[in-house]
Amino acid sequence: MKRVAVLGATGIVGQRLVSLLGNHPWFELTAVAASEKSVGKKYCEVVRWVIERPMPAKAGDLELLPISSDIAREKIDIVFTALPAEIAKDIEIELARQGVIVVSNASPMRLEPDIPLINPEVNADHIEAIEYQRKIRGWSGAIVKVPNCTTAILTLSLKPILDDFGIKKVIVSTMQALSGAGLTGVPSMFILDNLIPFIEGEEEKVENESRKILGRLKTDGIALNTSFVASASCHRVMVLEGHTEAVFVETERDVVIEDLIRIMEEFRSNKIKGLGLPTAPEKPIVVRREIDRPQPRFDRMEGEGMSVVVGRLRKDYALSGVKYVVLGHNTLRGAAGTGVLIAELMVKKGLA
Ligand SMILES: NC(=O)c1ccc[n+]([C@@H]2O[C@H](COP(=O)([O-])OP(=O)(O)OC[C@H]3O[C@@H](n4cnc5c(N)ncnc54)[C@H](OP(=O)(O)O)[C@@H]3O)[C@@H](O)[C@H]2O)c1
Repeated sequence: MKRVAVLGATGIVGQRLVSLLGNHPWFELTAVAASEKSVGKKYCEVVRWVIERPMPAKAGDLELLPISSDIAREKIDIVFTALPAEIAKDIEIELARQGVIVVSNASPMRLEPDIPLINPEVNADHIEAIEYQRKIRGWSGAIVKVPNCTTAILTLSLKPILDDFGIKKVIVSTMQALSGAGLTGVPSMFILDNLIPFIEGEEEKVENESRKILGRLKTDGIALNTSFVASASCHRVMVLEGHTEAVFVETERDVVIEDLIRIMEEFRSNKIKGLGLPTAPEKPIVVRREIDRPQPRFDRMEGEGMSVVVGRLRKDYALSGVKYVVLGHNTLRGAAGTGVLIAELMVKKGLA
């Protein structure tokens, strides 16, 4: 068993991590940390648990530690971070210097070429960039990033289109869940009977990270895919969990919709095939043929929240390509679940 810790364990992504790691066959959750106000108290006494499954009993008994690289002293193999961006960067660097593997949900460093930004079914091979990272940064640990939630969902749906038809342009308009803003993110006074047509920094993340995830591993890090451009418009809506994205893709080659449906349904990803990773969904992409699916309430838990659900696949004549709706669970596929899947990949490849 690998010893693992969660920094930011009381937040919404942190709780998902605790839920997944507390019952994991390869990982033993041995430490949890949160802000000063909780330090020294038992996890179950402090956390406002919002996950549909019960809190793992052993996790509830853990004493909360401060957010500090001292956590490395607990002989931790892998630290999962679910911290606000401004706090994450320094501590993640310090942990990597101390030889720890850091799987991070925070945005700093996601675009740096030596930092793998991994959506396993799409670009598991990019994990090899940690060798270059260790060389240029002179540390024995590693920092690996989980993509932005919207981008993780989008790039999984784009991967088979890119492989089979080529992509010139992607336009995406999102309807993003409240949980994406964190446990105390959007006050009810602002969101009830409403939507908010702006999420700070989100559009840039989708536009840039998608080109890195769909980019290429080189000896000096990861090169962006410059063969396509992406444009995003991001919006917060009154849904608890599950980001929905309306996607318009200009393709290099003509798409026959029935062919694309089959290709998406059969997509199993040669990147992680046969590795037996416990958190990998059997079908990364589920296609619905009903005219009114996917819907967040009914479809977000597909594949234990790790599959994305595509619907309304049809030709797009304005862009000469296809358009569709994709839905994914933002705190599972878009954060904690993908983080755990990355760690499993690293263990299986002997990197953690
Ligand atoms: N929510 C999503 O769907 C999602 C998806 C992808 C990525 N992310 C990223 O994941 C990270 C965590 O997001 P979240 O939604 O889980 O946020 P959250 O619910 O607000 O949780 C934040 C966590 O960080 C701790 N924290 C906050 N301020 C701190 C401080 N000053 N010092 C030490 N600890 C502090 C909190 O501890 P206390 O409870 O003790 O305050 C809590 O455990 C962010 O970087 C976010 O951008 C989120």
